[in-house]
Amino acid sequence: GLKKKEVNVLCLGLDNSGKTTIINQLKPSNAQTQDIVPTIGFSIEKFKTSSLSFTVFDMSGQGRYRNLWEHYYKEGQAIIFVIDSGDKLRMVVAKEELDTLLNHPDIKHRRIPILFFANKMDLREALSSVKVSQLLCLENIKDKPWHICASDAVKGEGLQEGIAASADC
Ligand code: GTP
Ligand code: MG
Repeated sequence: GLKKKEVNVLCLGLDNSGKTTIINQLKPSNAQTQDIVPTIGFSIEKFKTSSLSFTVFDMSGQGRYRNLWEHYYKEGQAIIFVIDSGDKLRMVVAKEELDTLLNHPDIKHRRIPILFFANKMDLREALSSVKVSQLLCLENIKDKPWHICASDAVKGEGLQEGIAASADC
């Protein structure tokens, strides 16, 4: 048959934001795991849909591993950037990492689509996706298609909506 179109997706964001939980939810239920542990370095996950074959780079968000992210920017064709909406204290750190990403030579001049998940919307103290968007100054991203979606990765809410909204980017 025809070879499926291959897409490399980078999953980025601070440690504990919920990247691995989100990716786990996107897997078919028989491939999902129950216990999710902090990612060491990164892990590679493969998915297939009817027309596309995805390779997701699930990067660790821990400070000591963030320098690994940039090695995969060249190959990345789409970015999922995850924010813990309840982590107000580190919103400024998330913004710093996002700005560093956006200014990187392998990202800066490319129209690479970015899907933001304002994750952990179930937390009582969670900021809205609008507020997260303001704090990260997303309106300044003018040369890339982007979308932000509130999500609860534990329950799996908001994820399909986000993917669907970015599908036509
Ligand atoms: P690193 O691999 O260290 O970069 O972290 P990560 O971004 O992959 O986070 P991970 O998926 O390991 O989730 C961290 C913790 O947050 C886990 O205890 C998850 O169960 C929890 N978590 C993830 N998503 C949500 C959510 O939407 N709501 C709540 N309440 N907890 C969540
Ligand atoms: Mg992880």
